[in-house]
Amino acid sequence: MGPYDHRAHVGNAGDVWKHFLLLEVANCLLTPDSSLVYAESHVGRPKYALKPSGDWESGIGRIWPALPLLKDFPYFNILAEFNSIESLSSLQIEFYPGSALLVAELAKRKKADLLINIWDIDPAVGAAWNECLDHSPISFHLDDGFSGVMSLLKSSSPGLLFIDPPFTSPEEKDAAEEIFCTAKSLGWTVLCWHMMATIPKEIPSSFSDQSIEFFVKFSRIGLEYAGAEGCSIRVASPDETMIPRISARIKAFLQIIG
Ligand SMILES: C[S@@+](CC[C@H](N)C(=O)[O-])C[C@H]1O[C@@H](n2cnc3c(N)ncnc32)[C@H](O)[C@@H]1O
Repeated sequence: MGPYDHRAHVGNAGDVWKHFLLLEVANCLLTPDSSLVYAESHVGRPKYALKPSGDWESGIGRIWPALPLLKDFPYFNILAEFNSIESLSSLQIEFYPGSALLVAELAKRKKADLLINIWDIDPAVGAAWNECLDHSPISFHLDDGFSGVMSLLKSSSPGLLFIDPPFTSPEEKDAAEEIFCTAKSLGWTVLCWHMMATIPKEIPSSFSDQSIEFFVKFSRIGLEYAGAEGCSIRVASPDETMIPRISARIKAFLQIIG
């Protein structure tokens, strides 16, 4: 098996849920004229061209026809604009922004400053970021994301951290857990997720004032992913209003699309 390449998987059922929630969380934190540190351990490319037979067809491709109903959610709104969709007559999806570009775009819209530090180990991903960086305030690091983020956590003021390893080895789960717990204890808002072969029960599975784990079944909103019934998404935040707000937004989303 070669190194993980997200291009074949982009826009899959898991991407829909994780990016939907990532932008809801970012939306809570980004207020006009505010400044936020954003870090991502495994960032992937800035954007992707969607090709026939990709995993996106049973992911974002299935939601696409309902897009006009979902424009109140920043994730769907940005996707629509990214694909220049202004009317119902042009329901085409061709491009998909990766996680960091989605967050950067939301910050621009909210007139908030983002200080972005992102990691990926793949030189081709680094080359793709170099092409689109120009003068933007994004620091891309061609290095291991676990150790890079760990040292950032020790030197930076807290912000928003997204942990998104490909989970191609068992060690990645432990490393993700360690970073999640360290970031949470240092006052960061953290989001981490993984695919699950089976889903024990529906959302939410467990929560406290400051953290929540959602189990989502892809079929609940008509999505599919080979070998996975759904995914688990964990969010922790020192902001006690965050978890109730996110839960309410999931409910609103499911009422429209579920
Ligand atoms: C699931 S993809 C990232 C998708 C992206 N976060 C998104 O949501 O749009 C995982 C990425 O991790 C990268 N990767 C694999 N091992 C890594 C490591 N040790 N450190 C940093 N990145 C790594 C891969 O090159 C791949 O681009």
